[in-house]
Amino acid sequence: MDLIRWCAAVIWFLGIIMPEIRSNAKSLDSVRSLDTILQDYAYRAFVYPRTGEVYRANVPSNLSGISLSVVRLRSGSLRTRGMYSFNEFDIPQGVIVVPYVIRLAMVYQNLGNWSSVYYAVPGYTFVTPVIGLFAYNASNISATNLPELNLVPPSTNPISIKFDGLNLLSDENDVKCVHFHVDGSYTLEDLISGERCTVNGHGHFSVAVNSSDLAPSPSPSNESPPVAKKWTENHVWKIIVGVSGGVLVVIIFLFFILWLLRYSRGRKMRKMLKRSESGEELSRQRIGNAQLPVANMVRTRPVLEN
Ligand SMILES: *[C@@H]1O[C@H](CO)[C@@H](O)[C@H](O)[C@H]1NC(C)=O
Ligand SMILES: *[C@@H]1O[C@H](CO)[C@@H](O)[C@H](O)[C@H]1NC(C)=O
Ligand SMILES: *[C@@H]1O[C@H](CO)[C@@H](O)[C@H](O)[C@H]1NC(C)=O
Ligand SMILES: *[C@@H]1O[C@H](CO)[C@@H](O)[C@H](O)[C@H]1NC(C)=O
Ligand SMILES: *[C@@H]1O[C@H](CO)[C@@H](O)[C@H](O)[C@H]1NC(C)=O
Repeated sequence: MDLIRWCAAVIWFLGIIMPEIRSNAKSLDSVRSLDTILQDYAYRAFVYPRTGEVYRANVPSNLSGISLSVVRLRSGSLRTRGMYSFNEFDIPQGVIVVPYVIRLAMVYQNLGNWSSVYYAVPGYTFVTPVIGLFAYNASNISATNLPELNLVPPSTNPISIKFDGLNLLSDENDVKCVHFHVDGSYTLEDLISGERCTVNGHGHFSVAVNSSDLAPSPSPSNESPPVAKKWTENHVWKIIVGVSGGVLVVIIFLFFILWLLRYSRGRKMRKMLKRSESGEELSRQRIGNAQLPVANMVRTRPVLEN
């Protein structure tokens, strides 16, 4: 029947656009849940934490390759003294966190060989791992699922990152600092004096080079991002198009069902009318055990040919 065929077609079409939506929604989720897992594991390094001391934290075995460290600070001392360096990050005096907390923890992530599993910039290749810097409320060191605090550096004195080995890149290369924000967007900026990136908030950071500049020689970190798992602006568009496409299909489908119902009701009416006009009612005859409708007349009589 037509209706069944239509349903099948619609389900098939939804099946094509749905996986795209699901795989991308999962991607921002998985990036965010990675941060949640890493906050939890970072805080496990706090047993009797000493203020200002950097602790290395363990990661779950299914994430090995990621390195994680954490330090607990008082907001007041962060503001007045600063914390000179935290791995690649240089944190100047005057940094505050918003909203205000008495004690905070700075969590440093280095995604190592997981960098391009979680992050990508279309047209660019990472030449450093993706690293992350986050601040959390550390009044309760057994808390999990904490929201990030905003890190606000003084406008005159930004936080900066010094990656190792960037001087190996030639000047002709199109090299950019990448800042991945927690909403899934990213920004590209030029390096400062060819070796530093500036940081104006929490998030993930890396340095990337135009992939076509790297084409002749393999990239230093040997990371050619697989396309399937990326959370990029491109995908945001695909999702928007996918969702509105899906909604449109559902609406069209509902209209079709309505039309179908009305059409079949109309056809039944017409049939009944026609039948009552012609007055032709099929009579029933018993054939074997069944009552079957049979025509009274045979309109075309068989004629034997000579
Ligand atoms: C790693 O395993 C833990 C359970 O041990 C699970 O909760 C977590 O989602 C896993 N993470 C990844 C990225 O697979
Ligand atoms: C990263 O390296 C570790 C070993 O150091 C390995 O266990 C892990 O599977 C690697 N991760 C990826 C995404 O290749
Ligand atoms: C990368 O470089 C090529 C050639 O130099 C240029 O055409 C392309 O637009 C660049 N890509 C990006 C993303 O800037
Ligand atoms: C920080 O955590 C403590 C203890 O859990 C809580 O009392 C306080 O309200 C939190 N501060 C903020 C700004 O969330
Ligand atoms: C700290 O967090 C843990 C885990 O969420 C909770 O069980 C405990 O009550 C909290 N303690 C305080 C003092 O808020």
